[in-house]
Amino acid sequence: MKKHNYSAGPCILPQEVFQEASQAILDFNNSGLSILEISHRSKDFVDVMEEARNLALELLGLEGKGYKALFLQGGASMQFLMVPYNLLQTKAAYLNTGTWSTKAIKEGKFFGEVKEVASSADKGFKYIPKGYFIPSDVDYFHCTSNNTIYGTQIKEFPKTPKPMVCDMSSDIFSRQMDFSQFDVIYAGAQKNMGPAGTTLVVIKEDILGKVERSVPSMMDYRVHLNKASMFNTPAVYAVYVSMLTLRWLKKNGGIAGIEERNEKKANLLYSEIDINPLFEGYAEKEDRSMMNATFNLLNDDLKESFDAMWKEAGIDGLNGHRSVGGYRASMYNALSLESVQVLVDVMSELERKA
Ligand SMILES: Cc1ncc(COP(=O)(O)O)c(C=O)c1O
Repeated sequence: MKKHNYSAGPCILPQEVFQEASQAILDFNNSGLSILEISHRSKDFVDVMEEARNLALELLGLEGKGYKALFLQGGASMQFLMVPYNLLQTKAAYLNTGTWSTKAIKEGKFFGEVKEVASSADKGFKYIPKGYFIPSDVDYFHCTSNNTIYGTQIKEFPKTPKPMVCDMSSDIFSRQMDFSQFDVIYAGAQKNMGPAGTTLVVIKEDILGKVERSVPSMMDYRVHLNKASMFNTPAVYAVYVSMLTLRWLKKNGGIAGIEERNEKKANLLYSEIDINPLFEGYAEKEDRSMMNATFNLLNDDLKESFDAMWKEAGIDGLNGHRSVGGYRASMYNALSLESVQVLVDVMSELERKA
């Protein structure tokens, strides 16, 4: 039976990527060796790393603009501390839009003063704060573009002369924007890019080298940049699968192409959530995420039937995050419109039966 994978991450990737990636486990590039057993210093893998780094910059439209891409380890959570380690001299501004921003703020405080410029905690992170002020004496401004747990997404980023750092873990490569407004972009691979185990970090090189503290080698972006993302053994297989996914994205129209498909999917599901009296969206409409749609069933008595129906239809991973409850449909790049239609059909079938 066809499965419709709504998992929030790790999550769905393109089938053709799975096929190519599984073949590389048996025989990588007709070398007679598995990708799992080759040296990360071999030419074959160095080429993979270079292609992955170049594709990331190309797809984001950042080639030739002073940016470099790295594939590091430690997840986006490691970036919560690498960012301030490398950039926070005295004070930084953070926008708090949910669990992940809260965690980034906590780590920032180990390195200096953190000014929370705005927070949506007052309403359960249902919305994105707007119209806040970014002080002129901060080293950078940090925000989270997509709030994976509560289902909100920043549609317009603030204009600030300060370096802007963005955690794009759950919406990287999903929508078009001017990526050159950011100085650091980071994202765990395990949503729109690849399996867990590697993290993409895109850095505008000229913002580095400004803090006075000594930075340990593994935490130092410049060390990783000088070694072309090979300072230590990279997550070979995770980088390889990420490279395949980025190739797939390029072949399928790049970010412009995927954005069009992502908009159709999100519109289809949100229209059902809004029209069906049994359901209610969690996030404020204007701040809804195109990637993670959060919603609740208004009548608890129907939960058992609804859960049985979507499971029967082959849907997987629809439960909300354990901290919020309800439902969360994660519609990452590789999820098809057909899969969203299956969920929408189940929701309207529940209405007919109720
Ligand atoms: C927006 C966001 N930031 C950070 C993280 C943490 O990522 P990791 O588990 O790779 O450290 C997640 C994980 O889901 C996330 O969604």
